[in-house]
Amino acid sequence: MKLLLSCAILLGSYGILAQTPLYIPPTIETSTIDLTLQNGTTQFYNGVTTNTMGANGSLLGPTLILNKDDQVTINVNNQLGEETTIHWHGLHVAPENDGGPHSIIPDGTIWSPQFTVLDQAGINWYHPHLHSTTNEHVSKGIAGLILVKDQEEAALTLPRDYGIDDFPIIVQTKGFTASGQIEWMSELDTSLMVNGTIDPYLDAPAQVVRLRLLNGSSQRFYKFGFSNNASFQLIGTDGGLLEAPVPLTRYQMGPGQRADILIDLSGIQGQNIQLMNFGSEIANAIYGASQPGMMPQLMLPGYDQNPLNGNDYTVLDIQVGAPTSNPVTTIPTNLTTHNIPQEGTEDITRSLLFNTQQNIVGPFTINGSLFDMNVINYTVPLGNREIWSLTNQTPIAHPFHIHDVQFYILDINGSPPPPELSGLNDVVMVPAGMGNVRFIADFLDHANDTIPYMYHCHMLTHEDEGMMGQFIVTDPNASVVENMSSLANVYPNPSNDVISVTHPRLKNAELTLVDITGSVIPISMALQSTDEGIINLSSIASGMYFLQFRFDSNYEVVKIEKL
Ligand code: C2O
Ligand code: CU
Ligand code: CU
Repeated sequence: MKLLLSCAILLGSYGILAQTPLYIPPTIETSTIDLTLQNGTTQFYNGVTTNTMGANGSLLGPTLILNKDDQVTINVNNQLGEETTIHWHGLHVAPENDGGPHSIIPDGTIWSPQFTVLDQAGINWYHPHLHSTTNEHVSKGIAGLILVKDQEEAALTLPRDYGIDDFPIIVQTKGFTASGQIEWMSELDTSLMVNGTIDPYLDAPAQVVRLRLLNGSSQRFYKFGFSNNASFQLIGTDGGLLEAPVPLTRYQMGPGQRADILIDLSGIQGQNIQLMNFGSEIANAIYGASQPGMMPQLMLPGYDQNPLNGNDYTVLDIQVGAPTSNPVTTIPTNLTTHNIPQEGTEDITRSLLFNTQQNIVGPFTINGSLFDMNVINYTVPLGNREIWSLTNQTPIAHPFHIHDVQFYILDINGSPPPPELSGLNDVVMVPAGMGNVRFIADFLDHANDTIPYMYHCHMLTHEDEGMMGQFIVTDPNASVVENMSSLANVYPNPSNDVISVTHPRLKNAELTLVDITGSVIPISMALQSTDEGIINLSSIASGMYFLQFRFDSNYEVVKIEKL
């Protein structure tokens, strides 16, 4: 089976196999959005039934169209038979609405975040984020696009007829087992698909068309371009529009990244043009190149048997048809303005060092630690302007992602970013072998002393193995806080009724129990000694909670579960 699938890919890239029309996910544009997470089956290959997961269907999910400043409610109904979370990747929402690993949606329950859309027009996406299970749930199929619209973008002459001249393009690879089931732990992600369609073609009109590209792959980078080396215009990145279109013939995208591109198909009606991955041009030490590591001997299991690595092939065949009645034929020269914060105005620089426990295989650490749900790695005072300096001491590149904010890249290996990386982003590739990237970001909203935001590598295998950390944004006017790793112990955890709590400074601690929405739940503790106490949880509802140990100027948080 594996062999057959890889052959299918190779043949498909030369156009020998029958092609399938590109699936275009439906849209939801209302301010109340219902998403049901469900199991189903998908025939990626004729006659092969694969178990998959989707939102409102068996695979992927609808495209959510949001308007800036709208108040939205999203009801996420988990019918998967297991717990998960849903994260709105790229949206600037409060941590309790962000859907990170702490916001678990138990099976059979509905999670209903409500928020105001604060984001500029741009391309975002949603996907599960349950710690250590993110890759499985995304690989099995849960992911969808979020397109934000705003007035500034609406005033530009740009294609925006969804499915007509404005197309969602979710590029993913998956591995399959011999029996045709999705294999998410493998470097044999030999099946390339767009919007879940293998070997797809798209009918597009002979005019300027817009591709909303998402690299939704678990590990793979792509170097996108077109078959005839046509130049295209990059008009937006993760955080929205660039100041001006950037003409390119190649654009490299890591997992999690988005690109808003325009390609002018005017005058080529009746012809075909292919969106390609120029994998042979991806530099080594990037997943997708011929070598995933810095040296030939640094190999991942199965990597060199995967024909998608280091080769050039078609991602999407575009068949150019008649123009629409009101085609966009010109590309605006100015899109938006960016006020990039200058270095020197920051409140703090944080340094993050990526390291490895086993060369290219990982697990990979950040500042020597694997992710710990109970440790808040950074406390960011509300309003801070911060530089994060990321250094990669491992032999493979990592696409670093941060929640809550969009950032501006200050430099990559000491050089200012090229025009295509000068806009706002929430994912950036940190090159292997002591590569360094510095970005600057403002943390302006959403203080919450308890529920953290995540930062992590967006290679989902790396993330699941612990290449992740978390930060809280605190309001310095509300309380003085400072981070420390937890000395607290809580047992049993999970618990039915009575839990015992120990901490060397328990006597001086003020204890607060907070639920995952941030509401304080009244509790009382019976001190047994200076460092041990007992809390009765029998009257509180089942679910996840945070127990805060607050001292004069700092606090610690332990996550507990009431059964
Ligand atoms: Cu796209 Cu923390 O994730
Ligand atoms: Cu995210
Ligand atoms: Cu990584």
